[in-house]
Amino acid sequence: MKEQVKPANGKLGILIPGLGAVATTFIAGVEAVKKGIAQPIGSLTQMGNIRIGKRTENKNPKIKDFVPLADLNDIAFGGWDVYEDNVYVAASKAKVLDAELLNAIKPELEALIPMKAAFDKRFVKNLDGTHIKSFTTKADLAQQVIEDIRNFKAENNCERLVMVWCGSTEIFQEVTDVHQSLEAFEAGLTENHPDISPSMIYAYAALKEGVPYANGAPNLTVDTPALLELAALTETPIAGKDFKTGQTLMKTIVAPGLSARALGVRGWFSTNILGNRDGLVLDDPDNFKTKEVSKLSVLDEIFRPESNPELYADMYHKVRINYYPPHGDNKESWDNIDIFGWLGYPMQIKINFLCRDSILAAPIVLDLALFMDLSKRAGMTGIQEWLSFYLKSPQTAEGLRAEHDIFKQLIKLQNTLRHMMGEDLITHLGLDYYQELVDSIQ
Ligand SMILES: NC(=O)c1ccc[n+]([C@@H]2O[C@H](COP(=O)([O-])OP(=O)(O)OC[C@H]3O[C@@H](n4cnc5c(N)ncnc54)[C@H](O)[C@@H]3O)[C@@H](O)[C@H]2O)c1
Repeated sequence: MKEQVKPANGKLGILIPGLGAVATTFIAGVEAVKKGIAQPIGSLTQMGNIRIGKRTENKNPKIKDFVPLADLNDIAFGGWDVYEDNVYVAASKAKVLDAELLNAIKPELEALIPMKAAFDKRFVKNLDGTHIKSFTTKADLAQQVIEDIRNFKAENNCERLVMVWCGSTEIFQEVTDVHQSLEAFEAGLTENHPDISPSMIYAYAALKEGVPYANGAPNLTVDTPALLELAALTETPIAGKDFKTGQTLMKTIVAPGLSARALGVRGWFSTNILGNRDGLVLDDPDNFKTKEVSKLSVLDEIFRPESNPELYADMYHKVRINYYPPHGDNKESWDNIDIFGWLGYPMQIKINFLCRDSILAAPIVLDLALFMDLSKRAGMTGIQEWLSFYLKSPQTAEGLRAEHDIFKQLIKLQNTLRHMMGEDLITHLGLDYYQELVDSIQ
């Protein structure tokens, strides 16, 4: 496969619907790293290593030196928002990064002005932005987004583009007839079908243009037959959904450990408080429902109560999110985990995570953008399940259960990179060389 991976020549444009806390923290972070005033901590593409070959070979290059990724100096940013603030102003309002850091990159951030959004308040009730496109039909709206994409590419002299949705979480939606096929979807665009959301319009426009699309929020978008069909038609990678940060990140680190040691779980109560705009949007029950569904699936998939009823069948799992403005972007989460061990004796684990939501999400945006671009250059199309590592609710092929265990997700990600580069996959068996090594030191 190695010879099939095209080099990362020229500029990569990263297009972002939703220039809020996550997106501005991501963009400001990349600009700060480019200036040498900060480190891209939390980003596997920039700081992670990958073992190549046998353990005895001691080869552990940086991922960015192993696979051909776009260089941070070759990235152009663009995006849309319902507010007209430039990225410097939006980042200042988001209050994630301190003023000193933002001022060091002020000219770069001020130059980034959002394009008018494709927006429909029905899908995000708690927002009142006015920087939005007018349109006659949703087909016309999609065409306007396509024009934005083309103009951005030409004006910024980009070779390639990717799109990562960092917009607000839209209300809970299920697949309906209009999402069942590309034909139905395109008819729905012309007829202004109410079940076509703004995020679907951005995704449609991106996929039409062959631009990889990753969904950072939990709303229904590329996980519909219609957009899957379009991705297949235009041979475009897609990934979703919902950045895995904060409490769910902790869950998918801790739960595999409990399951690995066959410890039982009777209950897992999770509650969060956050006070940023995301928290405000999630304060609406319809928007919260989208998030709740995404967060709830994680434990069942890791514990598999149907295969292990003695340990997990009676597990009670509850997730709450409360909007609490004084905390801003500094989310605080509490987990109470009631577990049981040998002979059924109970124990408890308490996790109190004082995290910074956007600080955890920003490197995910970077990695998803760079890896989606790599997928495209490697000729990998459709759902990129190897990127589940970054997502709370990984999209899979119809009928396949998602893998939530972060360690299995990492093995899959790393093996996919090895496969792309024509290296042996690592099974961690090691029997083929273990005895040789033991004999050599005797
Ligand atoms: N921060 C995290 O840890 C995290 C984790 C998982 C998922 N997410 C999701 O990522 C998204 C972004 O989070 P955030 O904290 O930056 O939220 P935010 O509210 O600060 O930013 C979202 C931005 O999207 C804009 N927007 C909404 N609808 C739009 C549309 N149709 N077109 C263009 N712009 C639109 C809003 O005006 C806002 O500026 C949310 O959906 C959130 O649920 C965040």
